Amino acid sequence: MAWTAHTIIQNGKAIPFDDARLHPLAVGLAYGASVFEGIRAYMNPATGRLSVFRLEEHLVRLDQGMKFMRFDDPPSREQLRQGVLDSVRANAPDDDCYIRLQVHIESLGNQSTTGKVGWVCAAIPRERSTKRSTGLSLNVSSWTRIADNTTPARIKATANYHAGRISTLQSKADGYDAPILLTRDGKVSESAGACLFMVRDGAVITPARDSDILESVTRDTVLKLAAELDLPTQERRADRSELYVADEVFLCGTGQELVPVASIDRLPVGDGKPGPITMRLQEAYESVVRGTTDAHAEWRTAV
Ligand SMILES: Cc1ncc(COP(=O)(O)O)c(C=O)c1O
Repeated sequence: MAWTAHTIIQNGKAIPFDDARLHPLAVGLAYGASVFEGIRAYMNPATGRLSVFRLEEHLVRLDQGMKFMRFDDPPSREQLRQGVLDSVRANAPDDDCYIRLQVHIESLGNQSTTGKVGWVCAAIPRERSTKRSTGLSLNVSSWTRIADNTTPARIKATANYHAGRISTLQSKADGYDAPILLTRDGKVSESAGACLFMVRDGAVITPARDSDILESVTRDTVLKLAAELDLPTQERRADRSELYVADEVFLCGTGQELVPVASIDRLPVGDGKPGPITMRLQEAYESVVRGTTDAHAEWRTAV
């Protein structure tokens, strides 16, 4: 990752990266009135061309978030789609990039202020997980996942990340890579910035959408890839104790990509090595995001 970002798109205009501005008392910051997407663009090794992975699905989720936030006059999907492509093109990266698309309230105000709405889109370098081939060490956090009737988990709101942040900091302080969060009734939800899958008796299992998860684009991709590999899939409530008896566990998300889990609460997952189904899915994910397969061309938007 040799490249650096020098240009950012703010409210549709390309400006120097360091010149982007928001007042410290803006409601987007002061009350966390902000929604965002984390998106990745991947380089195809044969063509050297970048494509954005599942851009439309990210834009749809962002629309849902903006609606939920009751934003006044939010930017259109077309403006945001253009902003994503412009943010990548303007920086001419020679490698993969991570794209943060964020919509927030720019004005000063109070908790019920719903405008003026502004947005930024930044394409930046982002390292891949160093645990992609060895596996993560996770713990079940004593913090619980945010509940849907507190601060809706399926909206990618900046404010939701306070809960992810404190649980991650606690896990790291305790010597783990990341937490697993349970719902308030003790079922498995997800990690702080990624969804969770288990493999049991050959079935690929992930907590259902009513387990206070973010409705993850990568989770949907993995479910589809697993079905195409003829692996049975299940979206259902999952018990904490299943984590300890599962044959394989992995996390997935745009930022994390697809990373095996080697241990949970210091107990090895399976034999403590990344499992065969996890690694098959990781390989399938890698080829579909990078376009080294013709499958799912509809998921890749050329930059
Ligand atoms: C809390 C949380 N869960 C799950 C995910 C995975 O979502 P996606 O696959 O849409 O990136 C993310 C973001 O990457 C996240 O922040």
